[in-house]
Amino acid sequence: MIDVFTDVLDGVRDHYRATGLTERLKAALAAFGPPDQRLTPQQLAAVDQFHTRGLAATAELAKLAKITTNRSVLDVGAGIGGPARFLAATCGCRVSGVDLSEPFVEAARYLTGRTGQSGQVSFETASALELPFEDGRFDVVLLQHVAMNISDRARRYREVRRVLPCGGTFATFDIVSMSGEPHYPVPWARTPATSFLLTAAATREAIEAAGFRTLAWRDDTEAGKAWFAELRASGPPPSPNLGVVMGPDILQLSANLGRNLMEGRLGVLTAVLEAA
Ligand SMILES: C[S@@+](CC[C@H](N)C(=O)[O-])C[C@H]1O[C@@H](n2cnc3c(N)ncnc32)[C@H](O)[C@@H]1O
Repeated sequence: MIDVFTDVLDGVRDHYRATGLTERLKAALAAFGPPDQRLTPQQLAAVDQFHTRGLAATAELAKLAKITTNRSVLDVGAGIGGPARFLAATCGCRVSGVDLSEPFVEAARYLTGRTGQSGQVSFETASALELPFEDGRFDVVLLQHVAMNISDRARRYREVRRVLPCGGTFATFDIVSMSGEPHYPVPWARTPATSFLLTAAATREAIEAAGFRTLAWRDDTEAGKAWFAELRASGPPPSPNLGVVMGPDILQLSANLGRNLMEGRLGVLTAVLEAA
């Protein structure tokens, strides 16, 4: 059992291996000016918001979760840290991010140095299934486009619950299965071996069973479809973009996610819950 589990995590790590990522980012960010020039989280959005609807989705989730100054926020599966930096800059909160991918964490720290936020935002390499924090440590936990990489959802949501006190907030923005098999590759998995999609109803059941009460539950599939339609109509994205992180096939991965939404195979879910 443990071997199967380790294999899955290794498969997910491989998908996000991103060898030499920080060096690639350094080169790509020359487009914004010299290395000693401070960047804003907003400038980096095309590169570091690794989810449907980019920065707009992060801003909406923060509003829905009522993230304010002095809140202590954990971003699980923080990627290269775009959401964490944006939240710290716009809400005034402190953010810790964890991610399974070491190159992503190294890149997240580098970019946070470039935005001058290292005192407010930090990152470490860890699994969502074993968070390196004591019980009740955070006011808010955020999970954006990560759940579909995690096979053991019950354990995953129990870990979120563990690091929140009673009354703490869990905000999630994820892809859910709808009808039929998705077309692969997609942004989180090049094959079905590392993709673990649940329906919205099964997701709700798993989260509530971990000790949460639902405050907001929203089907954002139409907004996701509109965003992908706009992307397709506007042609190849300007540089730098997520291709720096995932490689040139990001266009195909992203187009497949759009197609899966359009064909009703996948959906987009936004939810905010309170720790009971
Ligand atoms: C599609 S990216 C989203 C990144 C970020 N949340 C964002 O929205 O910009 C998925 C991220 O989840 C991370 N991830 C996947 N499985 C994980 C796990 N078991 N523990 C921690 N991070 C994980 C990946 O390494 C990757 O950075």
